[in-house]
Amino acid sequence: MGGEERPAAGQVWSPAAYAANAAFVPALGEGVLGLLAARPGERVLDLGCGDGVLTARIAAAGARVRGLEPDPAMAAAARARGLEVVLADAHDAIAGGPYDAVFSNAALHWMRDPPRVLTRVFAALAPGGRLVAEQGGFGNVAAVVTALNAARAAAGRAALSPWDFPSPALARRRLETAGFAVETMELFPRPTPLPTGMAGWLGTFAAPFLADLPEGRRPALLSAAEGLLGALRDPEAGWIADYVRLRFRARRAA
Ligand code: BEZ
Repeated sequence: MGGEERPAAGQVWSPAAYAANAAFVPALGEGVLGLLAARPGERVLDLGCGDGVLTARIAAAGARVRGLEPDPAMAAAARARGLEVVLADAHDAIAGGPYDAVFSNAALHWMRDPPRVLTRVFAALAPGGRLVAEQGGFGNVAAVVTALNAARAAAGRAALSPWDFPSPALARRRLETAGFAVETMELFPRPTPLPTGMAGWLGTFAAPFLADLPEGRRPALLSAAEGLLGALRDPEAGWIADYVRLRFRARRAA
């Protein structure tokens, strides 16, 4: 593993909970899909395809797309859409290449060792192939992370940083180190309404902050974090999370 390895997230996925609490994740994927601009017949890998909502969009564009997903339940949900999905971890060698493009939405920030994953992606691409991705960028959900860590401190637990939200400069350096030429790199705030409120979001995504607590103490920690986050609750629009996205396209030289 590389020098930037981080602990495993301890996240457990439920396709039903994801659809209820986080359907906005693929729904807000238009921009990165546009940057991919998949063409008919292209070989595309969707890295961290989740339940396959965006993978199906790439297939609909006529590309020969395959999903890569480490979580069995999410992979099964994607297969139920008729998609081809490899159950695998992106830190390992990527099978089935070479690909014309590797696409990824909202998955790279979960990686324990991003430089290693980039090396795997580079090796899986054909010469001239592209990596098109969107992930949390520097400052993403900063208020939420701070509140979760304040609640952890009150519970006698150390602060955690389970997600990788790089600055454009760090992301570029990692890509170039892996051999890519960076073509576009954009960091932008995207305040995101939460359809099931902060409680729904925390229940879906905050598992890494709970793993070292007895189960009986977890609900109180989430309530404490939610209680600290009132500034993200608009009296009319409801809960709006402080998302910041990093979107980029990088190419393996021809
Ligand atoms: C995100 O998509 O930005 C995100 C997802 C889960 C946890 C944290 C951030």
